[in-house]
Amino acid sequence: MSQRKPLIAANWKMYKTANEATAFVQAFAPLVKGHTRDEITLCVPFLSIPAVVAATHGTHIHVGGQNMYWQEEGAFTGETSAAMLHAAGCAHVILGHSERRQFFGETDETVNQKLHTALKHKLVPIVCVGELLAEREGGKTEEVLLRQTERSLAGLTVETARTVVIAYEPVWAIGTGKTATPELAAEAHVLIRSQVARMLGRETAEAMRILYGGSVKPDNASALLNQPEIDGALVGGASLDPNSFAKIVTYAQS
Ligand code: 13P
Repeated sequence: MSQRKPLIAANWKMYKTANEATAFVQAFAPLVKGHTRDEITLCVPFLSIPAVVAATHGTHIHVGGQNMYWQEEGAFTGETSAAMLHAAGCAHVILGHSERRQFFGETDETVNQKLHTALKHKLVPIVCVGELLAEREGGKTEEVLLRQTERSLAGLTVETARTVVIAYEPVWAIGTGKTATPELAAEAHVLIRSQVARMLGRETAEAMRILYGGSVKPDNASALLNQPEIDGALVGGASLDPNSFAKIVTYAQS
């Protein structure tokens, strides 16, 4: 049995106003009350962070950002710093989501800079990696995952890597209703973990949580999350509804 505590993270993307976010928490929190098997976090739009931090106060539900900038502060119009997220009450931050790579020019190198700044500010980074459909069909999955893992995590030490979380999100499975089979996801996780082991040693790799993301729903959560290699989920669409996200969190207990 792995010692890794599963992390179930909601990624709301660009959905919900602050009032809608509060209403979500009011409905969701009672559904997962006393659920301590998994760590739970809601990664919400920046403007909803204060409302969600307030609404989750006194629960075991954490809050996270979906992005941040790597500089400490400065003339960077429109950006948000790690210190700001931390001060607002965030515990986690998603870095390098494929939508940010695809639409906002994020690269492994910028993700890596963000990673180091996030760690400096005691945020738990959730670093996303994953292959495109064309890469999978072209037999490049292994190469892509090894490269993204190596470059995104560059410069970590055994000490700084302790809290880092990786999310494997095959891009072809995001928002498409196509889920990786549990076996296929587990295979990718083994590959990613082997790369972490090469970089930081077997012990660090064994302790690192690797989440799966891509069309996780209440009806496939248990099959995915029961794979010993899968240490939690990063959930998009199905995290927007309190009942559906609670079913995912309590997989196999409902
Ligand atoms: P979906 O769950 O909507 O496929 O999104 C996955 C995702 O991108 C989570 O970060």
